[in-house]
Amino acid sequence: MTGSGGHMAAVAGPTIQYVARAGILDLGWGHPHPAALPVDEWGEATAAALREHGWRGLTYGYAAGPGELVDWLCAHLAGTDGRGPRPAEVFVTAGASHALELVSSLLVSPGDTVLVDTPTYHLALRVLADRRADLVGVPFTDPAAVAETVSRLRGAGRTVRLGYVVPTFANPTGASLPADRRRELLAVAAAYDLLVIEDDTYRELSYAGPAPASLWSADHGGRVVRIGSFAKTVAPGLRLGWLTGPPELVGALADRGYVDSGGGVNHTVALTMATFGASGGYARHLARGLSRYSSQRDALVAALRAEGLDPPLPDGGWFVWLPLPDGLTASALLPRAEAAGVSFMCGRRFHAGGGPDGHVRLSYSMLGPGELAEAARRLATAVRGLSPRPAAR
Ligand SMILES: Cc1ncc(COP(=O)(O)O)c(C=O)c1O
Repeated sequence: MTGSGGHMAAVAGPTIQYVARAGILDLGWGHPHPAALPVDEWGEATAAALREHGWRGLTYGYAAGPGELVDWLCAHLAGTDGRGPRPAEVFVTAGASHALELVSSLLVSPGDTVLVDTPTYHLALRVLADRRADLVGVPFTDPAAVAETVSRLRGAGRTVRLGYVVPTFANPTGASLPADRRRELLAVAAAYDLLVIEDDTYRELSYAGPAPASLWSADHGGRVVRIGSFAKTVAPGLRLGWLTGPPELVGALADRGYVDSGGGVNHTVALTMATFGASGGYARHLARGLSRYSSQRDALVAALRAEGLDPPLPDGGWFVWLPLPDGLTASALLPRAEAAGVSFMCGRRFHAGGGPDGHVRLSYSMLGPGELAEAARRLATAVRGLSPRPAAR
């Protein structure tokens, strides 16, 4: 096994999603640093899991996910969240995106309205739009506005069953919902019988002590489905995630025809993850990831500040949500930035139907500290070139 990429045969088409662009330090991708992917460790865990499980590791798996991973998740989440789930509350998925697709396909009909935080993860907007739902953006940082919006839309005859939010180390802002807002949001969900999909993808990428307890862990009314992922903590190519929610919902997912036909959605990888977790390999790998990503965050934020820009310091996750000087939009900045050799995602993409464009999302996950510092210098040069009042140096 080699960690260096190994032998590569000629292939007819692309292998990976990421597209490198010559001369551009691209802060647009929320992808892991290549050196953070556990090539050798995962290979060893795969061999160990197959030794342990033999043919059972390669046959059709149990509908809700193999007991080994479900039990590991129950114990693990008891240590990283406000409470751990019971096995009947867990369903293993092929990633957080798949969890969102599954839950929304069960609960959203064409023409329904789904409330989405604003700004929020732009590709969740796509998954929900695929359901032909009408997406309405409302800041979940303001639970009273969520309540008012549900009430107004229902008063106008709309069906509003679901809300979507990333309350912990959010994509794109890196921010977390404070504890009082979490309580208020749960109260609104209870009062309006709203099911909240809590995207908890970044919980374990916490750089300043334990992450806040999830909405799911504080909910006692079955009104939160929390979706999680191993994409950021281990590797996105595994396509492995999970959800915790009311047992009836887990049962309904396990009873889907395609699960009956195909068994657990990612059985062999799920069993391997259980082995990786139980062996201590996951904990060691995560510790290295936290150290890497917190230094990358520090490098980017320090370099932006040294250039006179004013980013917040996120406590976790992979993103910096940088406000631009008044009057400057991200869309206007992008071509200038790319000409200067740096790229990013424009703020308006994170609002349902488009929205304010005075921020850029910078991902610090994929580049090392030196490249991030250079990217910040290039970005600041582009900002100065366009600002009505250039940022001070
Ligand atoms: C908030 C959020 N949810 C979900 C995903 C995708 O997760 P997965 O790879 O497990 O489908 C991402 C990846 O960028 C994300 O930022």
